[in-house]
Amino acid sequence: MGTVTKIGIVGMGHVGAHVANSLVLQGVADELYMTEQCSGDEDHSAKLAAEVQDLGDSLAFCPHNVALYNCGEDYARLADCDIIINAAGKVRLASEDRDGELFYTTDTAKTFITPIADAGFDGVWITISNPCDVVATEIWKLSGMDPKRVIGTGTALDSSRLKYALSRATGYDQHSISAYMLGEHGNSMFAAWSAVNFGGKPLAQLREEQPDRFGFDEGEVEQEARHGGYVTYAGKQCTEFAVADAAVRLARAVISNEHYITACSTLMTGDYGEEGFFTSLPCVVGANGVEEVMHFDLSDSELREFQASCAHVKENLSRIGL
Ligand code: LAC
Repeated sequence: MGTVTKIGIVGMGHVGAHVANSLVLQGVADELYMTEQCSGDEDHSAKLAAEVQDLGDSLAFCPHNVALYNCGEDYARLADCDIIINAAGKVRLASEDRDGELFYTTDTAKTFITPIADAGFDGVWITISNPCDVVATEIWKLSGMDPKRVIGTGTALDSSRLKYALSRATGYDQHSISAYMLGEHGNSMFAAWSAVNFGGKPLAQLREEQPDRFGFDEGEVEQEARHGGYVTYAGKQCTEFAVADAAVRLARAVISNEHYITACSTLMTGDYGEEGFFTSLPCVVGANGVEEVMHFDLSDSELREFQASCAHVKENLSRIGL
């Protein structure tokens, strides 16, 4: 990684634009290379130009200057980036199920994965598009990259939703809560309740000691995390802030080589008996991507939920012949 941090974005719709804004506001990138489909039925060149201009107009208020590049659909221009964030999708296909975007996002991804790989990209992919685990698997397979260098935002977002729900249920600061949603970033994800702790104290112990404060309905809290994206979608026909920030948090962990622990989508290599596709487990993220996958003593029912979730990812992969 050079001294100038270069970040590329594929897809400048709701999510990509928020990724760009968040990167600029947080002072994460020095150079930002933005791409979008700009031809045929999907000519979004006017939107792309407007997003670049709007970002430029905000720079005077931001931590430091950022060089902004409108790269149209010239994806090969992202080859020198340290990180490329994929936000290409069509969210209206996913109003009730993220699988609704399966064919659109995986077809679209073919138009940029290979040109970027052929142009020599050797940074880190952070991919948001849904179904996240399937697209992450596709990027890994088509790019031929070291799988550690491909990260799906996966359940980083849903784990944040879980912490927010737990914070509201108990009154504790969410930064003091360790909690993960695991498996597919989709309807089959689940809360790993056995690993939840508040400031290091296990939830099970707190439930015994302080039933008034910790006796909340776990099923309801889990459903808030699992279903949160659809609630947001129902109100504003997209989700954008939280998922963009999940991607930018991962980018910061890569750029600063943080060894940051978060749930995110990574290649299964025998984890709990699963292998050959991406899904979310707690990972350590640093300069080279996912450095380590952390394993917990999941309960028997959590293991069954994990296996069912993995089965769903594999089923979607077989639907697109991967
Ligand atoms: C969400 C979308 C991005 O959960 O999948 O917000």
